[in-house]
Amino acid sequence: MTAARRPLVAGNWKMNKTGVEAREYIARLRAHLGETALPADVAICPPFTALEATARAASGSPIRVLAQAVHEAAKGAHTGEISAAMITAAGADGCLVGHSERRAAGETDDQVAARVRAALDAGLQVILCCGESLEQREAGETESWLTGQLTSALAGVRPDEVGAFAIAYEPIWAIGTGRTATPEIAQAACAHVRAVASATLDGDVLRVLYGGSVTPETAGDLMAQPDIDGSLVGGASLDPDAFAAIVRAS
Ligand code: PGA
Repeated sequence: MTAARRPLVAGNWKMNKTGVEAREYIARLRAHLGETALPADVAICPPFTALEATARAASGSPIRVLAQAVHEAAKGAHTGEISAAMITAAGADGCLVGHSERRAAGETDDQVAARVRAALDAGLQVILCCGESLEQREAGETESWLTGQLTSALAGVRPDEVGAFAIAYEPIWAIGTGRTATPEIAQAACAHVRAVASATLDGDVLRVLYGGSVTPETAGDLMAQPDIDGSLVGGASLDPDAFAAIVRAS
């Protein structure tokens, strides 16, 4: 991270926690984070069913609430999906787009691009996710893969939208595996992400996050890298004590 960019630490709960559990969690996180100035912007990404409860519990605090996904259509016959307007109506501020677990379940590059556009059009903050598989890394294809994912996803994004945008580099082999990328590997990939995105978005302003088995122990060294401006945290974000420690380490 450089002094010019304020870090962003986002917790992705994935398919965990009910509304009741979310309220308890946010109360504890608020107590941990206190009223003093934080070293980072903080966001929580609950499942759809807990969005409203989380947003209410976080109201008046620095904690932002983001959905884990969004559909590109305004409404219609899309069973199981939710629109950007529904996210706003639930009291949330933004959404993840293109998480690798969604892509593995069938979300295409074209859908990711359309969903980024729909979210920005609705005034939502976006954290766009990208990352390579272990096979792609071992084949030396990491940079070309990231370039392709980002070029597609950013095709409809305007330079003036950089403030509403962040990109999370999440190597698939590091997600949920306990195998955090080394700070050097994460830095190199995040620098590449920034370079590619700079064709559209001001690279000095754009926040690039690292995600993949981030813990309170690994967060500090990762955040010390010049091109890593925060983290997207899965497993460790389920515990408010651990998540607060990651925020403090940023
Ligand atoms: P993890 O998940 O921290 O559990 O590896 C990160 C993510 O998928 O966003």
